[in-house]
Order: sequence, then structure tokens, then C-alpha cells
Amino acid sequence: MSYTIAMAGKGGTGKSTIATLIIRYITEELRKTVLAVDADPNSSLGISLGVNVNGTIADIRDDVVEKRVDIPATMSKERYIEYCIEDCIVEENKFDLLTMGRPEGPKCYCYANNLLRKYLDKTEKSYPYIVIDNEAGMEHLSRRTTNDVNLLIIAFESTIIGVHTAKRITDLIESLPIKIKEKVYVICKVPEKGISEKVESEISKTGFEISTRLPFNNEIYDSITSGESLLQINKENIVYNEIKNLMNNFILMSADK
Ligand SMILES: Nc1ncnc2c1ncn2[C@@H]1O[C@H](COP(=O)(O)OP(=O)(O)OP(=O)(O)O)[C@@H](O)[C@H]1O
Ligand SMILES: [Mg+2]
Repeated sequence: MSYTIAMAGKGGTGKSTIATLIIRYITEELRKTVLAVDADPNSSLGISLGVNVNGTIADIRDDVVEKRVDIPATMSKERYIEYCIEDCIVEENKFDLLTMGRPEGPKCYCYANNLLRKYLDKTEKSYPYIVIDNEAGMEHLSRRTTNDVNLLIIAFESTIIGVHTAKRITDLIESLPIKIKEKVYVICKVPEKGISEKVESEISKTGFEISTRLPFNNEIYDSITSGESLLQINKENIVYNEIKNLMNNFILMSADK
């Protein structure tokens, strides 16, 4: 069974940044392979990982459901879809990336989500780790595309709105029929002057156990704004080191690893 890590949090908080640094930690420090899944329709994980994405599950769904392609007579529809998914996976040295994309039309997510889920069920055994970068709206978690999750990372910023959103996400998750073994709260982009007393007080009211406080960091900011891969940032980067500590605590402590 793979160890699955999934991201949750409001838009623009730092989910993709954390997901990318976790992928870096697993591949560089643990020297294990990862299936990275960009489950956000506004795909961006490819950019922060520095790879070109040439196809998405949504494209496959559109081709098959809208009958834009002729499935070869020698292949079943299922086999054809599987073949297309394998074709759109970007294979890097240490990780593979599968991108969900945005299907056309409002009702099309279910089919694409099912494709992703079936594929994850089937390939799970090939990857010791799966890292899923979700969209802000939690659509994928709520539609159960995400398999059982070993570690859910709920990211939020150190603002009143950030804390309230993290609370709402927590309530939503608790109402869903997905198994989450552990969840951790990570505060992102903490300013140099620290977190205000008011926000600290809101956080303590929620009872969240905060695992990590990631500082706002110029190297990360500059790297993303210039479209560069986060895999290139300095090994000693403070945010990367915080992520390493977080992962050491959870992944290495996990009984089956
Ligand atoms: N610790 C940090 N220090 C400085 N900037 C950061 C940090 N973490 C994230 N950012 C910046 O914040 C922006 C949003 O980050 P990111 O894309 O990781 O968030 P997200 O939650 O994945 O957003 P979305 O919901 O839009 O996918 C990016 O410009 C990124 O560079
Ligand atoms: Mg993102």
C-alpha cells in the first residue's frame, strides 16, 4: 500500500508549494519514488515541479465521452483509457506526474474523477508514496477521488479568515466518508513580525494542533513568481527545512515505512 499525502486549504495559501517540497523531500532525502497527482483543475503542480505537462485526465475524458477519437477495434474502452492515462503521465527520474485538468462542462467531473480513482486503485502498489495536490474547493476529496489518506495537510494563512476557512475545511472533512489516518495543520507565509495576538487567540479556540509554521520566504516567492521550479531552491531554505522536519515526524514515524 502506498503512503498517501493529500493537501487541503483555501486558494493561494501554499498547498502546491508544500506538495512540491514534500515531493522533493521524498525523492531526495528518502530516495523513494512518488506519484504526484495534480488534482486541481487550475493545474500548476507541473510548473512548480519544473516539468511540461502534455495531457490531462480531463482531455482523455473529453475525447472518450464526446467520442472525439476512434477507439481501436482491438482495444476495449477501459484498456484504451488506461493506455491514454499512461501516455499523459510525465515520467521524471524520481517522480511521475499525473495531471487532472479541467473537463469541459459542469457535469463532467465525475467521469474524470472516476478515471483518476480507478487508476490510483490499480497503480497504488507501484509507488511507495502518492502526493495529491488538491484544489481549494475540496471537490476531489468530497467526490472521493482521493483514496484513503495517510496524512492530510490542512494549510492556512495566519489571518482570521485563514483560521475560519481551516475550521470549515476540517468540519467538511469530518462529514465525508473518506478515511484519513492523520491530519496536520500548517500555517503558511507567516510574516517576519509574527502572528497577531488576535489570530493566535482564534487558533487556540479551534483546538488545532499546529505542526508547523512556515515563514514567508523571498526565495520561494521569487521562484514561483518567475515560473521556476521549486526543486531548484537552496537545500538550506528555511521553508524546505521546516517541511523536512514535518515529514520526518510523520512519514518516518509511520509504522509501515
Ligand atoms: N512560504 C512562502 N513564502 C513566500 N511565498 C509563498 C510561500 N508559500 C507560498 N507562497 C506563494 O504564495 C502563492 C500561492 O502559493 P501556492 O500556489 O503554493 O498556493 P495554493 O494553495 O496551491 O494556491 P491555489 O489554490 O491557487 O492552487 C505563490 O505565489 C507562492 O510563491
Ligand atoms: Mg495550488
